[in-house]
Amino acid sequence: MKMIKAIIRPERFEFVKKALENQGLSGMTVMPVEGRGDQKGISLQYRGGTVQVDLIPKVQIEVVISDADADRVIQAICESAKTGKRGDGRIFVLPVERSIKVRTGEQES
Ligand SMILES: Nc1ncnc2c1ncn2[C@@H]1O[C@H](COP(=O)(O)OP(=O)(O)OP(=O)(O)O)[C@@H](O)[C@H]1O
Ligand SMILES: [Mg+2]
Repeated sequence: MKMIKAIIRPERFEFVKKALENQGLSGMTVMPVEGRGDQKGISLQYRGGTVQVDLIPKVQIEVVISDADADRVIQAICESAKTGKRGDGRIFVLPVERSIKVRTGEQES
């Protein structure tokens, strides 16, 4: 299994959620995060001056899926999260050893 950890623009979240549903995925964990990428934040013009905003609000989505599903899920996230401007986000892919459903003890690996 793989964990897809996608850090995206908050305003794209509903599109990405829909795209994941269209891929047949229901389970996910979503959290608000703050981060920065290659540009180390952004410069904003504010009251005639420049203000450097270091950490920008993003949404982090975590989905655990089979290895075989990883490429098409990554593609679906990229297509639905993209605006083409800097700051569209990052996707990290992590190995997952096991998943256990608490209610039944059912395991996947
Ligand atoms: N090297 C990194 N390690 C951990 N998180 C990162 C890293 N780079 C980016 N992120 C996370 O991804 C979010 C989105 O980053 P962002 O879209 O600005 O990526 P980027 O690589 O700078 O691409 P772009 O040039 O399109 O802005 C950041 O807010 C941060 O949470
Ligand atoms: Mg960036």
